[in-house]
Amino acid sequence: MAPTTQDSAAAAALSSATAAVHRSDVARHGARLSDPVRQSMLLTALYLAQERHGYLTPAAIEEVAGRLDLPVGHVYSTASFYSLFRTQPSGRFVIQVCDGLSCYLRDGADRVADYIGRKLGIRPGETTPDGRIALERVQCLASCGTAPALRVNDELVENLTPNSLDALLDRLNES
Ligand code: FES
Repeated sequence: MAPTTQDSAAAAALSSATAAVHRSDVARHGARLSDPVRQSMLLTALYLAQERHGYLTPAAIEEVAGRLDLPVGHVYSTASFYSLFRTQPSGRFVIQVCDGLSCYLRDGADRVADYIGRKLGIRPGETTPDGRIALERVQCLASCGTAPALRVNDELVENLTPNSLDALLDRLNES
């Protein structure tokens, strides 16, 4: 259905309101938002909160924002930006297959995701029925020299081959 004039007006009003909130955040928190020490503390705090809860719940994001005196929206957008962080519940082990160009050119990316998906009977974005393993696809994991690569929780696994993938999946299924 085509957007109505009312839809367009509502979208423009929302966009304008969002921009106003952003300007207000920058005005109120500008120094804190650009403070590199606070930014690195933010990543560590999000990591610890995720360790505690398994993912970043809305309450955890608010707690981090409160402790670092940062806007909740800023903390949430940081959590959403990094593939290391999850804002939804997921598997006990989260396999993140790199989708970057180096991995693609070295027989990774699609091939690795397809291989794991077939072995587990799931597709990217899904979790095994027992809640043990989730499969995701993410952008470059900064391991291009040892592509193809993937990450399991916070462990980087490089130079992937079918044999090393089998060994990895066996290990996760036995853990
Ligand atoms: S492209 Fe896969 S690690 Fe960089």
